[in-house]
Amino acid sequence: MTTLGTPLTPHSTKVMLLGAGELGKEVLIALQRLGVETIAVDRYDHAPGQQVAHHARTIAMSDPAQLKALIETERPHLVVPEIEAIATPMLEQLEAAGVVRVIPTARAARLTMDREGIRRLAAETLGLPTSPYRFCDSLAELQAAIDGVNGEKGVGYPCIVKPVMSSSGKGQSKIDGPGDVQKAWDYAMAGGRVSHGRVIVEGFIDFDYEITLLTVRAVGEGGQIETHFCDPIGHVQVSGDYVESWQPHPMHPAALEKARQIARAVTGNLGGQGLFGVELFVQGEQVWFSEVSPRPHDTGLVTLCTQHQSEFELHARAILGLPVDTSLRNPGASAVIYGGVEAAGIVFDGVDEALRVPGTDLRLFGKPESFAKRRMGVALARAGDVDTARTHPKLAAGTVRPRQV
Ligand SMILES: Nc1ncnc2c1ncn2[C@@H]1O[C@H](COP(=O)(O)OP(=O)(O)OP(=O)(O)O)[C@@H](O)[C@H]1O
Ligand SMILES: [Mg+2]
Repeated sequence: MTTLGTPLTPHSTKVMLLGAGELGKEVLIALQRLGVETIAVDRYDHAPGQQVAHHARTIAMSDPAQLKALIETERPHLVVPEIEAIATPMLEQLEAAGVVRVIPTARAARLTMDREGIRRLAAETLGLPTSPYRFCDSLAELQAAIDGVNGEKGVGYPCIVKPVMSSSGKGQSKIDGPGDVQKAWDYAMAGGRVSHGRVIVEGFIDFDYEITLLTVRAVGEGGQIETHFCDPIGHVQVSGDYVESWQPHPMHPAALEKARQIARAVTGNLGGQGLFGVELFVQGEQVWFSEVSPRPHDTGLVTLCTQHQSEFELHARAILGLPVDTSLRNPGASAVIYGGVEAAGIVFDGVDEALRVPGTDLRLFGKPESFAKRRMGVALARAGDVDTARTHPKLAAGTVRPRQV
């Protein structure tokens, strides 16, 4: 039985979000609607989620001492990581000591915080199909990983190099031939989140399309964990960053079945309760695992206009032990609105025009500072079919014009 309290009283149900960006903001809103007391943590003030939570805290979440002190002071029932760059070994310690429950588990947060933990788990422990890959610590190792050494086959060309600690395509580039290797290495070194020089090099998968399969582990009526799947989300990535997504993405039944098997295996191993974004590449009936977020996924913003319960509501419900409904309500699509300018406190022109596009909705995240390539909002649209739906958010997103004042 789940019992929820009243916020700001001694019997509140307290949830702390570690990371309070646009995805965390929507999770926080879903939690607020259930009367949960929320604490939004980020590394800068006035982060989107901090604007809708009961409490806002600003700390360096990658600093174990600061993280420990905050959790011990606030004593939340649940800690919900929204980003990867967190002192996850400290979360494991606190979870093991019974101080707090981490969503979905502290181990899942640690394994997915860099590309090595999750890739080795998926490919080597679970035997799931992935691109061929190697981890390298120097330019020479990278070259050897591509070429192969001691009779071992290399990943070959084309391939993709990514810092092990990075997201949204930062530091990531494609290598088409020997002339690109040095450039890709330098780019990865400049783009990694922490300055240690480890990269993954992956063989390039020439997929027909890629999807995010949102997968929810929630408590069933009998108290056991059940796995639920949302309809596949198709998306387009530019330079490793999502620009457009839609749902449902049509799939061959055999490919869908494989995708679900992969998602079930990886989320089953990571364990706990909550929603996961499983990224998969598909070519015909063949499916490759790419990576997984143990939390709502950016391409899943589209579910705000397509599902009865968005991925954020699903996450909120699943972590609280409540039942979930992953069914689709109608097809729809999303398109990202970038800042375009480098300035604090920008304004957005054309919001009215954007909302005149049929079936359209909008989220402006309220980020205090804009960068050219910073995601500042998203346009959403529902329609009778995906093709129609896809044209509308792009139109709407193009109409919203961020401007420096
Ligand atoms: N091995 C590969 N073969 C082909 N395309 C790839 C490969 N790896 C990555 N990509 C492309 O680059 C995109 C980003 O890669 P990946 O998801 O690994 O990076 P990321 O930085 O974690 O991005 P995000 O944080 O947006 O998920 C993928 O969605 C896919 O379009
Ligand atoms: Mg990705």
